[in-house]
Formats: sequence, C-alpha cells, structure tokens
Amino acid sequence: MTVPEFQRQKSKGKKLVVVTAYDALFARIVEQSGIEAILVGDSLGVVVQGNSDTLSVTMDDMVYHTRLVAGAREKALVIADMPFMSYQVSVEDAVRNAGRLIQSGAGAVKLEGGVAMLDRVQALTRVGIPVMGHIGMTPQSVNQYGGYRVQGREEAQAEGLLADARALEAGGAFSLVLEAIPAPLAKAITEAVSIPTIGIGAGPDCDGQVLVLYDLLGLFDEFSPKFVKPYAHLKADALQALRRFKEEVECQKFPSDLESYQ
Ligand code: KIV
Repeated sequence: MTVPEFQRQKSKGKKLVVVTAYDALFARIVEQSGIEAILVGDSLGVVVQGNSDTLSVTMDDMVYHTRLVAGAREKALVIADMPFMSYQVSVEDAVRNAGRLIQSGAGAVKLEGGVAMLDRVQALTRVGIPVMGHIGMTPQSVNQYGGYRVQGREEAQAEGLLADARALEAGGAFSLVLEAIPAPLAKAITEAVSIPTIGIGAGPDCDGQVLVLYDLLGLFDEFSPKFVKPYAHLKADALQALRRFKEEVECQKFPSDLESYQ
C-alpha cells in the first residue's frame, strides 16, 4: 500500500481499514489479516507504557516503535504519529522530527491539529513527507478539553472543524483522521474533501475506520470509549492461560514427560 493507492480507495468507494501496532509481532499479525495500513500511534503511551495520556511519549519512543513495525512490514503502509512537542514549537522541529520517523521506516506521518498546523503540513509535504491530519478530539489537547470529550457538537465548533479539514487538504495532507465527532459532521467533512477520512468515533460515513489494536483485541480494558468494539477477548484468554500454568506448576502437572528431555 502506497500513499497514492491509499488515496485512490476513496474514489473507488472502497473502505480503508487502519489499525495501530507498536511491535513486530503484532505488525506481522496485522499484515497476515490483510489489513493494509498500520498506524504506529502515540496511543502506545497509554496501552504500552501504562500512562493515562499520550503526552509523555517522546520522539525516541516513536522512532523505536516505528523501527519495530516497519522492520516487520511486508505490504502495509506504515504511518507514524508525531508525538507531543515534536512539531508544535516550530516548522523546523516538525520537518526534522518527521524526517527521523521516515528514516525509521515510516511511509507517512500523522500530526494533530487543524488550521494552526497548516504551515507544518505544507512544509512536510514540500520536502516529500506525506502527512495524515488528525482533527476532532485530538488526544494531545486533553488538558485543554478537561478530559476526552466529543468535539464539534456546537455549530461554531463544527464549522471550525470543516474549515480545518478543507485547510489541511489544501495544505497537502493525504488523509484525515476524524476522532470523536458527531457522525453527521464526519459525513459532511467526508463529502467536503477529496482526501480519505478515517474515522474513530466518527460514525459510519467516513472513508475508512481506525481502531487501537489492543482495544479491538480486547487486551486493554482500563477504559473503553463508546466507539470501541472488541472483536476478541484476549485479556480474558491470557488470564485463563496464566492461571492454568500457575495451577499446573503448583500441582506438578507441568512439565510432564511430553515437555521433558529423556
Ligand atoms: O495514537 C493513536 O493510536 C491514534 C489513533 C487513535 C487514531 O491517533
């Protein structure tokens, strides 16, 4: 999957499917599923590092995880998140840090923000780095929102998001993540731009959908927004396996002859 192919899916009316991955093992499983785009999300700050938000994720963290995922990549487009403070201070920071992610194997980067980030998007596009925008509820602004809250419910806010989407498209973004906004607004944005929109908590009318892998697999259950649908229950399976292992070691059922060298 290349950036132009990813974009063409919109005109073909084919839904795009994106999931996050943070290491080679899961990246390979995602590839085997046929899913063609992997986001190395800064959500790793929550689901891998155990923090309550994404704000402490560093460029070094993102470079490390991008290398792991990109190293396992076969066909998928690998998109790496630009972490908090890697692009907010200056256009120069944005270009240098996005460049590090590309040098670590990403095929594109994602950054949060609308019109305010337009100069970053333009600068990255100018140097040949494809940028996915991310608007709506942008987790790096959690402190400004006072929590993870649906955005764009009021008319002025909704108009602002529509303007953000149009500006990012004009600035060269190849795609847009729409997070936690009302479904009718996501539909309006999707119709207003020619680049694919990828929804997460943005209803069914986006051009594609993204979920955090550990949410989708039922591995992470510390908090679960309304938009998450677990397609498996791997945490429950893991707990069952670990309890059985403990029990069998304690009652000397494991290892048996089968697992022993004679
Ligand atoms: O970091 C992430 O995983 C994301 C997705 C939730 C879109 O930004």
